[in-house]
Amino acid sequence: MANVAITGAGRGIALELVRQHVAQGDRVYALARDPKGAQALNALAADSSGLLTVHAMDVADDASVKAGAASTGEEPIDILYNVAGVTGVVAPELESADWAQFDQAIEVMIKGPLRVLQAFLPRMQAGSKVMNITSQLAASTWPYGGFYSYVAAKAGLNRMMRSVAIDLKGRGIVVGLIHPGYVQTDMGGAGADITPQESATGVRTLAEGWTLDKSGDFYRWNGEIHPW
Ligand SMILES: NC(=O)c1ccc[n+]([C@@H]2O[C@H](COP(=O)([O-])OP(=O)(O)OC[C@H]3O[C@@H](n4cnc5c(N)ncnc54)[C@H](OP(=O)(O)O)[C@@H]3O)[C@@H](O)[C@H]2O)c1
Repeated sequence: MANVAITGAGRGIALELVRQHVAQGDRVYALARDPKGAQALNALAADSSGLLTVHAMDVADDASVKAGAASTGEEPIDILYNVAGVTGVVAPELESADWAQFDQAIEVMIKGPLRVLQAFLPRMQAGSKVMNITSQLAASTWPYGGFYSYVAAKAGLNRMMRSVAIDLKGRGIVVGLIHPGYVQTDMGGAGADITPQESATGVRTLAEGWTLDKSGDFYRWNGEIHPW
């Protein structure tokens, strides 16, 4: 049984990760920005025989991250998934930009994962894992324009977490970067390539098998290495 913490857990890929980890008997701390509004998550928790608890955490807010992590207690954390994300503006912002949403993308997808890691790090030890859900849009191989705040945030997340991987290697803590696929969630839309179940199965399998020699690497949900 692993102790697992998951951000952005109210819907999408994170909600499915919650479901799968609870189904295999793990202890799951689901971190959601609006726990009261997360009906599917609360229903899962009610049915989980105590394996799943729901905690408020806005990853863009320092105090909320600290309070959310503290509310989960003091047990060691085996896997932390940084999943929370926002799409931001898709169209090219060449004449003007929505700076408020740009800042929000950085808060949620770069500073957020670091804040959350800092909050749980005292409970991590050799073998613990920090799995960051990033995107193929972080890679220089992504052949399209637009998505300025999103690509900036995910590319920044990748490079920052590669540094974190180096800095945590001596402590035996594993850091992973995962493109979860193009997934049928609110973010990906109904026409996306794969279901949340397929994505979460791949992400979870990767996370569970990730070893220290691969810390800081970037993979696709299906186990292929992602060039970037
Ligand atoms: N879907 C795809 O095709 C795709 C492709 C590549 C990468 N990704 C990445 O995969 C991750 C999950 O995406 P998804 O498709 O599951 O998206 P989603 O269905 O839109 O869900 C996004 C989740 O992030 C949460 N969130 C947003 N801002 C937050 C904040 N400030 N604090 C805490 N939680 C916050 C949302 O919570 P609320 O309900 O409170 O808004 C929601 O639970 C994201 O990092 C995304 O960038 C997705």
